[in-house]
Amino acid sequence: MTPFETVDHDRLRSGHGVKWGSLPRDVLGAWVADMDFGVPPAVRASVVDLAEREDFGYPFWRGQDPVVTAFEERMADRHGWSPIPDRTRVFTDLIQVLQVVIEHTTAPGDGIALHVPTYPPFLASIARSGRRIVPLPMRWTPSGWDFSTDALADRLQGCKLLVLVNPHNPTGRVFTRAELAPLADVAEELDLVVLADEIHADLAHAPHRHVPFAALAPHRTVTATSATKAFNIAGLRCAVAHVGPDRTWDALSRAPLDYFGTPSTVSRVATVAAWRDAQPWLDELSKVLRHNRSTVERWASELPWDLRHHAPEASYLSWFDFADTPLRDVTRLEREARVKLSEGAEFASFTDVDTSTFARLNFATSPSTLAEILDRIGGALT
Ligand SMILES: Cc1ncc(COP(=O)(O)O)c(C=O)c1O
Repeated sequence: MTPFETVDHDRLRSGHGVKWGSLPRDVLGAWVADMDFGVPPAVRASVVDLAEREDFGYPFWRGQDPVVTAFEERMADRHGWSPIPDRTRVFTDLIQVLQVVIEHTTAPGDGIALHVPTYPPFLASIARSGRRIVPLPMRWTPSGWDFSTDALADRLQGCKLLVLVNPHNPTGRVFTRAELAPLADVAEELDLVVLADEIHADLAHAPHRHVPFAALAPHRTVTATSATKAFNIAGLRCAVAHVGPDRTWDALSRAPLDYFGTPSTVSRVATVAAWRDAQPWLDELSKVLRHNRSTVERWASELPWDLRHHAPEASYLSWFDFADTPLRDVTRLEREARVKLSEGAEFASFTDVDTSTFARLNFATSPSTLAEILDRIGGALT
């Protein structure tokens, strides 16, 4: 039996994870982007080893931070992009990277462009920083989600930053090089910095291949990523940002000592173990995610309603439009189906894009838990 065939609901409900810990006992969690599985054996061993050595002093490494080395190697080996040496620094998480990049590349009132819908805390961060959200709406077409590049330079006038989430959350798109090229062109034309959030890249499903944006625009791109999504360690808090633009790198280098905080030693050893030693685990995980994705596809296609969606090309999140079903008001899902999905409205807050009839389903769970989740949603639909 693989470690992905069953999940221990008692472990999940009694732990510190918000996905299950915050829910009433009779509600199933299919919302926040954590997986119900454990972690790779190599990650577990790295954390246990640290605990056994009671090695909890201030972090120190001789030479380059091993997180940076592991990141550089992984990008080159798996994604065919060689980061510029000495341009990567560690952060606690991607939200922090976004806040730092907003602060150092834009001023209040400047525009920040990004695809909408998007990861909700990004919208909240931009709105709270007093910058303007300039939405690039994702467009539903019968063959998949895309976005218009018509008059891109006109639409992005007044922007200083483009935030590109690729693979995209919540639609699951893995943008192709041809789709990314106009974004690289407009960044050049308007002198934009691009923050490329590539946190879901290791979860691209074949035949889709992740293209790092920095490969197209090395001196405009800040690449932010972490091992947290693919290796299920979001609670540990360690991320990296590779800073291509000279002016952004210089601005960050001038910041006061420890201004950006420091990820813990635990999070760093776990990140290194994940990126270096956990590929066999990730390969097994990918099989179960693809299996679950097919289960979701089959279930949706057999419904008597048109639950509009496209299979995600990466990761474990399905983005459904319930508009043409009896559950148009998706806030009823938790109340009536006793399943918690992520409600669509928050993926477009602070914009005029309407995603209120959408909900995002997290299918990173055991096949039997997924079957129960889908049954419950199906029950509420009929
Ligand atoms: C696209 C995207 N970016 C960032 C994050 C969160 O990253 P962090 O926990 O490092 O802030 C998530 C979490 O689901 C995400 O989906």
